[in-house]
Amino acid sequence: MKKILSIFGTRPEAIKMCPLVKGLEKEADIESIVCVTAQHREMLDQVLDLFQVKPDYDLNIMLPNQTLGQITARILSGIEEVLIKEKPDMVLVHGDTSTSFTSALAAFYNQIPVGHVEAGLRSFDKMSPWPEEMNRTLTGRIADLHFSPTVKNRNNLISEGIKADTIALTGNTVIDALKMFIDPDFKFEDSLLDSLDFEKEKIITITAHRRENLGDPMRNIFRAIKRLVEDFGVRVIYPIHLNPKVRQVADEVFGTMDKVHLIEPLTYAPFANLMDRSYLIMTDSGGLQEEAPALGKPVLVLRKETERPEAIEAGTVMLAGIDEETIYNMAKELIINQEAYDQMSNAVNPYGDGTAVEKTIKAIKDYFKI
Ligand code: UD1
Ligand code: UDP
Repeated sequence: MKKILSIFGTRPEAIKMCPLVKGLEKEADIESIVCVTAQHREMLDQVLDLFQVKPDYDLNIMLPNQTLGQITARILSGIEEVLIKEKPDMVLVHGDTSTSFTSALAAFYNQIPVGHVEAGLRSFDKMSPWPEEMNRTLTGRIADLHFSPTVKNRNNLISEGIKADTIALTGNTVIDALKMFIDPDFKFEDSLLDSLDFEKEKIITITAHRRENLGDPMRNIFRAIKRLVEDFGVRVIYPIHLNPKVRQVADEVFGTMDKVHLIEPLTYAPFANLMDRSYLIMTDSGGLQEEAPALGKPVLVLRKETERPEAIEAGTVMLAGIDEETIYNMAKELIINQEAYDQMSNAVNPYGDGTAVEKTIKAIKDYFKI
């Protein structure tokens, strides 16, 4: 019997780790335990409720407007107690958050092997995404077993000197999660979403929260979106991140516009189905760049670079950057030019076929020879 401790703390990690936790729970020769750092609180709890995952440990570290130093220090001291008490055979962390890197570091200090889910993505710019590029790179240096979504991700690791036989090509567990909740007959509980006519209107779903975009870049992004609503009558649904610094800029630029709906973060099932029915997605999120292409939805990425080039190469994602005029013009083209829109709205799936959980568990069992 091997004891596997999964550690995560933010919304995207929870969406991508809960399917894996559910899979691990079914394995006879694995004891699965979960520790959440609660780097996010409400946005994490939404996902835990949806997947019905009950953590064994909850460090509850979130503070309003938390700094990176606060997150790191609070996790590092909190997690050690759990590691000493549970003595897991392996710790699993996900992706590129401060929770991922700090938990991997704590495991390393306690000489516990680390498995890194969603390993090997690189933008090659340490300041963007910030601090995620460095979080992911450092987690990769610590990890003993790497689960890479794509061949490109695996090759990035190999070129950094990671041994090929410690890397498993798995696809991304977000596709496993997406498959669980997309439903053409889905009925939104929210009365606004339920009242929308997705056939008649061009509905754009947006999300934005990146730390490096806070302030002026975000202001530029929102101004471009405001002009698109004014000039073309599109409707915008924006489930807004709970970070007060994001909310402040959104309120300032959008004020009260009839066709811009700033709503609370949605649970994953309605959000996934909102993406599936939207005309266009505009986002600085990482996860949406993986989900929307699988749904055949064009995505404009509101960032200067991306560590997820696969969907750009496939044509469903375009980098729009953070300049107001460029964002406006790129979105305008997709709103008024049907041919340009159709070219981008092909469903492509560089991130696997929804069997990432199965492949990840197989790699863990192979590692332990169980
Ligand atoms: C963090 C991750 C980022 C990930 C993002 C997903 C790091 C460094 N950043 O972003 O990689 O893409 O989460 O959303 O790990 N807040 C709440 N309730 C919540 C969540 C957040 O009130 O449920 C507020 C709090 O005031 C909190 C602030 O938002 O201090 C920012 O949260 P934080 O986890 O620091 O977000 P980011 O670093 O922006
Ligand atoms: N998401 C959600 N509800 C929302 C907005 C996003 O469930 O209101 C999901 C989205 O489908 C994706 C994940 O949250 O799986 C992305 O999280 P976030 O944008 O916070 O982080 P990132 O992907 O940038 O790390």
